Amino acid sequence: MQNALSPIVIRSTGYFLPERVLTNDDLSKIVETSDEWIAERTGIRERRICADDETTSDMAYGAALDALKNANLKPEDIDLLIVATITPDFKTPSVACILQERLGLRNVPAFDISAACSGFVYCLEICGQLMRGGVYRNALIIGAEKLTSVTDWTDRTTCVLFGDAAGACVLSKTDTPGVGLIGNILGSDGSHPDILNIPGGGSRLPLTKENIDDKTQYIKMNGREVFKLAVRVMEDVARKLLERHGLTTQDINLVIPHQANTRIIEALTKRLEIPNERVMLNIEKLGNNSSASIPVALAQANEQGRLKKGDYLLLLAFGAGLTWGASLIKWN
Ligand SMILES: CC(C)(COP(=O)(O)OP(=O)(O)OC[C@H]1O[C@@H](n2cnc3c(N)ncnc32)[C@H](O)[C@@H]1OP(=O)(O)O)[C@@H](O)C(=O)NCCC(=O)NCCS
Repeated sequence: MQNALSPIVIRSTGYFLPERVLTNDDLSKIVETSDEWIAERTGIRERRICADDETTSDMAYGAALDALKNANLKPEDIDLLIVATITPDFKTPSVACILQERLGLRNVPAFDISAACSGFVYCLEICGQLMRGGVYRNALIIGAEKLTSVTDWTDRTTCVLFGDAAGACVLSKTDTPGVGLIGNILGSDGSHPDILNIPGGGSRLPLTKENIDDKTQYIKMNGREVFKLAVRVMEDVARKLLERHGLTTQDINLVIPHQANTRIIEALTKRLEIPNERVMLNIEKLGNNSSASIPVALAQANEQGRLKKGDYLLLLAFGAGLTWGASLIKWN
């Protein structure tokens, strides 16, 4: 089943990583942990972290410039801008509006969406549907996160997992049928708000000196619950999406999963019977970058020449909310 409306392709990819590297050994000087424990339980060896004055919009800007260069487009060619993030520079204005000004885009709709680690897959669906509506020709979509700004550096169960990054894609309309964004399934379940959340800093619990002392502004997580749900939900959504399009996992040339934990990815791809050589991994060097994980992994796979014309790609995401999503792409 193909989408009969205007096909939308990923015209280019781009990414930006902060220069500073934080290794597991560095972390073992901050909390009681070890390179061995972190690598064995998560697959992570190091992650990038922003400089103190480096922001989510700075990284998003870097990724946007990279994607525009790779698309051979100028900022004025872009007519829609969407950013997925849960770590915006400000509550308002949005990261997208900051970028609109920095990139010099004229009169384009620019907005952020919040779907945590599933943010980029949500962006693909939202942007694809807006473009199919007819008005927009070239769109810039970005996943960007400064997760270290919401990381509790005294909590060893979370601080070893996260890093900062941004990834971007230019989406364009094309006349070639049957390529690009083939289909998506998105989902959510708000009945587990406490297993992965940031309790403070919103309208429910505005920050006060007292609750800052209680560290409510940082990510809290029940890792074991998240682990189990992530594997089950991503397997389910992958199967549903492939079935909808008359494909099996044998047809998929590369799976680009959210990079939360190597063991989650291994359990998932084992259930789906997808061999390791058809799975994109960058978690060892980058950790979990939430909404930036998938677009950075996609851009790196592209840079490494792993995406061939006609290949089927399957993006699989799971995150806080809970939210999840799968995207099927035929590379062009
Ligand atoms: C967080 C995670 C790595 C923990 O791994 P785990 O195998 O489930 O480990 P547990 O939570 O059972 O903890 C086992 C032990 O290691 C300890 N531990 C936890 N973090 C540690 C660390 N960084 N270093 C050393 N020991 C650690 C625990 O305190 C516990 O000790 P105890 O047995 O004495 O109580 C794992 O659950 C996970 O990755 N979950 C998914 C998280 C995720 O992906 N979140 C984002 C989703 S988008």
